[in-house]
Amino acid sequence: MRTQVVIIGAGPAGLLLGQLLHKHGVANVILERQTADHVLGRVRAGVIERVTMDLLDEAGVGARMHADGLVHEGVQICVDGKRHRLSFKDLTGKTVTVYGQTEITKDLMDGRAAVGAATVYSAADVILQDFSGDNPRVSYRAGGKTHEIGCDFIAGCDGFHGISRKSIPASAISTFERVYPIGWLGVLSDTPPVSEELIYVRHPRGFALCSMRTPTRSRYYLQCSLAEEIESWPDERFWEELKPRLDDEARDRLVTGPSIEKSIAPLRSFVAEPMRFGRLFLAGDASHIVPPTGAKGLNLAASDVRYLSRALIEHYQERSDAGIDHYSARALARVWKAERFSWWMTMTLHRISDNPFDHRLQLAELDYLFGSKAAATAFAENYVGLPY
Ligand code: FAD
Ligand code: PHB
Repeated sequence: MRTQVVIIGAGPAGLLLGQLLHKHGVANVILERQTADHVLGRVRAGVIERVTMDLLDEAGVGARMHADGLVHEGVQICVDGKRHRLSFKDLTGKTVTVYGQTEITKDLMDGRAAVGAATVYSAADVILQDFSGDNPRVSYRAGGKTHEIGCDFIAGCDGFHGISRKSIPASAISTFERVYPIGWLGVLSDTPPVSEELIYVRHPRGFALCSMRTPTRSRYYLQCSLAEEIESWPDERFWEELKPRLDDEARDRLVTGPSIEKSIAPLRSFVAEPMRFGRLFLAGDASHIVPPTGAKGLNLAASDVRYLSRALIEHYQERSDAGIDHYSARALARVWKAERFSWWMTMTLHRISDNPFDHRLQLAELDYLFGSKAAATAFAENYVGLPY
């Protein structure tokens, strides 16, 4: 079998790339290790930038997002029981939209099924071959048989634990990493959110986040130790730990109920450079990870895909490799700015160190943010998403 681009991974990066390439007549096959249901069952990101929405529209899958997404004009930050509001709308003229990654994935899967493009789920033992030369190939096992696809390019969209980045010789790739000694314990529940806007909470007991998916479905997170096990967090314990971290009004409005999903995610910053090796490109979490505090992971995956899809379309339609040659540098310039913002949000809002000096610095950062229009504008510009 032969195609133009083999895409490894059917997360948001792989599915979005597949849809954009298909729209422009570039043939592609997606190979995904898990089943479609497994991919749809992962509860992850919730906030999307305008530029990500534009790309989903371009891919032809934006209708449900426009109908059901919640437009947010600002965000709230609660510091030791006192809430402050930052209005993106006033500061930048822009907004963000709350629409879950699960829904985006579903829209992309439906869009792909509607155009009849090929996705192989439960593809095991994916192996990338000869991508430093002109005739890359990808083999995999499915239905008890080994299959091989020849292609022009491979797009590694297989997340942090995927095979694509690991297939590049170690001498050809540099990695930069910071692992934080904390995790986020997340709960999804069919209860109304405490607030119409997200509340990021800095508290001596640790960070908390009040988010949502719909007017009747909430998503909450608590900073936890990496040693925590999900079994030690029955719902009652989660709500009892959330309450003292909130301000009085949020505590009064909090409606608790049974969780419908609960998970722990470690916090990590990671970048692998460059994002291209021969005819293999990396995009999304396969090449970089941000801690979720800035809500940037999914948005960065989309911005990589924007650069990569345009580069590949230019290659086929205009016979120009300029976009391909610049892909890594262009994508990384945006990646590093999101790394900086996500690191800053994480370090400013979590209880990471026990050194009182660090606590005072956090309070000074936040005081400056709430008191200076310049600082608030810089925050808002980053939160709504930097321009391409
Ligand atoms: P992924 O979504 O990871 O998709 C990669 C796909 O590749 C997966 O479907 C995987 O099964 C597949 N794959 C892996 N290995 C192989 C292989 N060998 N062969 C074939 N297929 C393979 N971001 C936020 O903004 N807010 C959040 O709250 C948030 N929470 C998160 C919680 C967790 C637990 C994680 C892991 C991430 C979270 N993120 C969050 C980040 C955001 O979800 C990711 O940035 C986004 O999913 C990246 O999309 P992606 O397509 O690059 O990678
Ligand atoms: C979420 O709703 O899951 C969410 C929102 C904002 C973040 C991270 C996660 O910064």
